[in-house]
Amino acid sequence: MPFLLQRGPAEDVTALGWQIDDQETFEIVLARVANAGVRVSEATPEECNLRGVERLWRFPGPKGMATEIFTAPTTSTARLRMLQSGFVTGASGMGHVAITARQPDRVRGYYDRVFDARLSGWVQENIAGARLRIRFLRVNGRHHWVAVAGVQGLRIDPIRTVIQHLNTQVESLDDLLAAYERVIAHGFHMQWSAGQHTTDRELSFYCVTPSGFEWELGWNPIVVTPDLEEHWAPKTYDSISIWGHTPIGESVLTRLTQFRYAAASLRGGRPELPVLR
Ligand SMILES: [Fe+2]
Repeated sequence: MPFLLQRGPAEDVTALGWQIDDQETFEIVLARVANAGVRVSEATPEECNLRGVERLWRFPGPKGMATEIFTAPTTSTARLRMLQSGFVTGASGMGHVAITARQPDRVRGYYDRVFDARLSGWVQENIAGARLRIRFLRVNGRHHWVAVAGVQGLRIDPIRTVIQHLNTQVESLDDLLAAYERVIAHGFHMQWSAGQHTTDRELSFYCVTPSGFEWELGWNPIVVTPDLEEHWAPKTYDSISIWGHTPIGESVLTRLTQFRYAAASLRGGRPELPVLR
């Protein structure tokens, strides 16, 4: 699944795409959504072309994002010109996204009902002055393809953008280090230094995209193999990182901006979820 960058009214993510393994599962997902009273629509051939897929259906997802599902990507044998050895994608997909929500349990419920998402674990930690509870959900061997964070005891959302970060996984440690150097060399802002996560043991760093959300680049996370899947028991961690991931250059202005968005979200903000009957 590619990234599709388009000019638009907001510096934000507008859709997340999911490849479904087979036609039967595809029909099951569509039926679930339609039966829940949510409007489903088929994308135009032009929209499919832009995404490199044969057919694509779309329905509303959390925080105003569209959920897009497809079965057959159009592939090419042309060699990619890249600055590194490669990204780890394959059967478990591109990486993950993290989103903050005023009603995180409802967001989790959405992914449970649509995709049979399974809980991989929890983290409870103070981040940027708020007590956050983060749920990690998986649908395949990737430890999580979405992390949903909520501020404990308060229905606020401290993040302006729809996602807090996206993650892609590189093939080698050399790739990770070279990318870190490039972020610095090109003058992009590094948000969190290199570190290692407790939950999936991924080594990673976070930089800030021009749209304002963060991009985590990671290497070597745990894979939930069929053996592990059989006996998986979600754990709760009291820290998101074993080491590192320290904030870089966090200013008073950054903190104040977060409080402003949190306060605005208390007053209502955007609708958080489509109604699933
Ligand atoms: Fe992450």
